[in-house]
Amino acid sequence: MTGVLTLYRTSIGKKAVMAVTGLIGYGFVVAHMIGNLKIFEGSVGFNAYAEFLREVGYPLVPHTGLLWIARIVLLTAVILHVVSAIQLTRMGLVSRPMNYAQKKSVQASFASMTLRWGGIALLFFIIYHLLHFTIGVAHPDFVYGAAYENVVIGFQNPFIVLIYLVAISALAMHLYHGVWSMFQTLGLNNVRTNSLWRGLATLSAIALFVGFSLVPLSVMFGLVR
Ligand code: HEM
Repeated sequence: MTGVLTLYRTSIGKKAVMAVTGLIGYGFVVAHMIGNLKIFEGSVGFNAYAEFLREVGYPLVPHTGLLWIARIVLLTAVILHVVSAIQLTRMGLVSRPMNYAQKKSVQASFASMTLRWGGIALLFFIIYHLLHFTIGVAHPDFVYGAAYENVVIGFQNPFIVLIYLVAISALAMHLYHGVWSMFQTLGLNNVRTNSLWRGLATLSAIALFVGFSLVPLSVMFGLVR
């Protein structure tokens, strides 16, 4: 245990925490995107899927038991990810008391800027999203358990669709840069494989952007109603 804590105090330890918790978040996002596409199966299919997420594991675990375990794991991962990011930023500032006369690498600073501000924007979006579709207080006509109808009514407003599209873009950029910096942390980047990793990071960002955007856009254009 003390070994783990000692490692966590180093920047490498914190970067490893960021990589592992980032991967947990990434896994959730991919699963959530695939689950959302069930909206194209219609009300019965989508609501049955939402119900399955609440009931999975029953009667071995109580109703919503596994869902709560997943929520706790996810929340812990997000908190550790954010805390490590703040600490790493501080360590960067501590070890560099004087500002560079000129930024060393324009590309690196752009990536870290988008990671930081995109990450903060995503945190705000997730709070709004929970109030919109899970708790329902930010929804005009929320009905508990009617996930399909909540989504269809929720995306009737083009302004809300726009908020989601901006958030999905921030998510795609965050994951693109996140995947890329994870490869660097793991030391997997070298001249031979760099273009392959960049290609994979780009492809996964585009797939997530398209997969998530399909739902609000299909509702807005009346393909899902
Ligand atoms: C178009 C995009 C999205 C749609 C249509 C969508 C839809 C939904 C719906 C309907 C729920 C509620 C499920 C239920 O309680 O029955 C939900 C929950 C959730 N979504 Fe999304 N979502 C989208 C994007 C995102 C993104 C980009 C993230 C995170 C980065 C995210 C994170 C979450 C989380 C954390 C929950 C709460 C899960 C729980 O605790 O039950 N969603 N989403």
